[in-house]
Amino acid sequence: MCGITGYIGPKAAIEIALETLKRLEYRGYDSAGVAFWDGQSLNVLKRAGKISNLIEMAGDIRADGLAVSHTRWATHGVPNDPNAHPQTDEEGQVAVVHNGIIENYLELRHELSARGHRFNSDTDTEVLAHLIEEQLETSDNPEEAVRLALQQVRGSYGIAVLFARFPDRIVIARNDSPLVIGLGEGETYLASDITAMLSYTRKVILLENGDLATIKRDEVRLYRLDGSSIERPPMHVDWSAEAAEKGGHEHFMIKEILEQPEAVRDTLRGRLKANGGIEFPDIKLEVEDWQRYRRILIVACGTAYHAGLIGKHIFEKWLRRPVEVYHSSEFRYGDPILHPQTLAIFISQSGETADTLAALRLCREAGYSTLGIVNAVGSSIARECDHVLYTQAGPEISVASTKAYSTQITALYMLGLFLSNVNGTLSMQQYTDATRGLMQAPSLISRSLEMEAQARQAAEALKEMPLAFYLGRGIDAYVAMEGALKIKEIAYVPTQECAAGEMKHGPLALVEPGVVAVFVATQARTREKILGNLKEIKARRGTVLLITSEGETDLPQEADYTLFAPKVEPEALSPLATIPLLQLFAYHVARLRGCEIDQPRNLAKSVTVE
Ligand code: F6R
Repeated sequence: MCGITGYIGPKAAIEIALETLKRLEYRGYDSAGVAFWDGQSLNVLKRAGKISNLIEMAGDIRADGLAVSHTRWATHGVPNDPNAHPQTDEEGQVAVVHNGIIENYLELRHELSARGHRFNSDTDTEVLAHLIEEQLETSDNPEEAVRLALQQVRGSYGIAVLFARFPDRIVIARNDSPLVIGLGEGETYLASDITAMLSYTRKVILLENGDLATIKRDEVRLYRLDGSSIERPPMHVDWSAEAAEKGGHEHFMIKEILEQPEAVRDTLRGRLKANGGIEFPDIKLEVEDWQRYRRILIVACGTAYHAGLIGKHIFEKWLRRPVEVYHSSEFRYGDPILHPQTLAIFISQSGETADTLAALRLCREAGYSTLGIVNAVGSSIARECDHVLYTQAGPEISVASTKAYSTQITALYMLGLFLSNVNGTLSMQQYTDATRGLMQAPSLISRSLEMEAQARQAAEALKEMPLAFYLGRGIDAYVAMEGALKIKEIAYVPTQECAAGEMKHGPLALVEPGVVAVFVATQARTREKILGNLKEIKARRGTVLLITSEGETDLPQEADYTLFAPKVEPEALSPLATIPLLQLFAYHVARLRGCEIDQPRNLAKSVTVE
């Protein structure tokens, strides 16, 4: 995730801006930059790679009281020097750092180009610099210039702007991407995350969405996007620096679980339109190209593979095309029978998983069309696929994947709906219902997350389980598989994930008192059969934890513990509502068992060996 810090005051501004920026390194980034006033002009230094590269580049350069710095985690354009922030206009009148995504940047870029602006990067952010500079051509009011520029953009932003003509101030603005002002004596700090400034000040002002502010050495003025002035009282922060990095949470994993509504919203943003249309601005394929795919192949590992299984379910349901899902490590041994009109999809959070990359290369050699669903921009898988649909989960630090999974399935839902639409395989009503449901995904996930206390209580009761079955039917069985992987990897609970109907063909022999069966049951058409499966477990004195939808009354009567997810329409979207409950349950079991949650034993975040 991108990071912003800044300083205005009598001390060495570049050093402070970079020192505070280093405190955001843990969030992940791929390039860094700083803008500063040197007493005569506005300057920008930026470099792909680590902050240390930038520090080396800055050498002994001194700023005159003002600097803003940024770490970029690429979303639009690969991680290289030109795409690093700050972004400027051609004349270097304005320097902008930005966290977030400008949705209508392509449109704005075309309009600005038509008015003679030249662009130096592939970023969405650069349009902001040009828009602000354009306003300043006819105005001497930098705050007004930022305000009017922002009125033209849609999307999320936390921005900080420096001006060659007004070196006494930084103008900042927030919409859906946090910014914090830190108050000192005759000096003012700025950061996208309180952590960065804790060693300098604990007196902060938090910006709200729609706020702008002008920051000077000893003055802060706040106003709204409509121009009206406002006051926001400062607050005192007493977190430890470590707690602050995790947003006050005990572990990155829980922070990332709770970030899912935002991550899914960011993944939908700019693609699923308010009128229900879906478009992928970064994928250069015409409708006829999309229509020619007769089969779909999905290749991935671990959690990403589980996301692929959800993809199989929905593509088959909505698109009526055959779908094969392969573990990347098995792909080369399976001799899959591929059709020339196969779309091969590779799912990966890191974009560097060696097995997935190897399978991708085999598909490319064989001439198949390849599409990556990838989180890390500019990663190997993203670079080597013909097309990429980026998830916008932001960096995932905890080894156990959570928000990557929910954004991967969100991307698959959009892709499934888009392909169904261009192939006419869904009725208008079905399509409309599904896109409406998907639009509500962030709020559904938020409602599931409100069940944390209940998930914790179930974890408290079941934390000593010697073995857990994870069971479901249809799409629920795939979610159960992901729930099992979570508890296995972070809480070291032995699990058997299984289609519920398979229990009586063997695994049921393992059920005895103390064994837990976690059922995911949200689908009307599997309800009766699930009821039978619940009874099978209870008859053998196993313990049942049921994850079902609100409003369900019969199934909970057979369960020892029930967690209710919000009811989702259409039911095919229910994994978005049920997975948070399984993640929360696994997290709390691991916590209560005293496990190393963010770095479980024997596992690595990015598996770059085959
Ligand atoms: C599990 C987990 C792993 C990854 C797998 C693939 O929580 O994180 O199973 O999903 O190693 O990694 P990526 O998605 O980076 O290809």
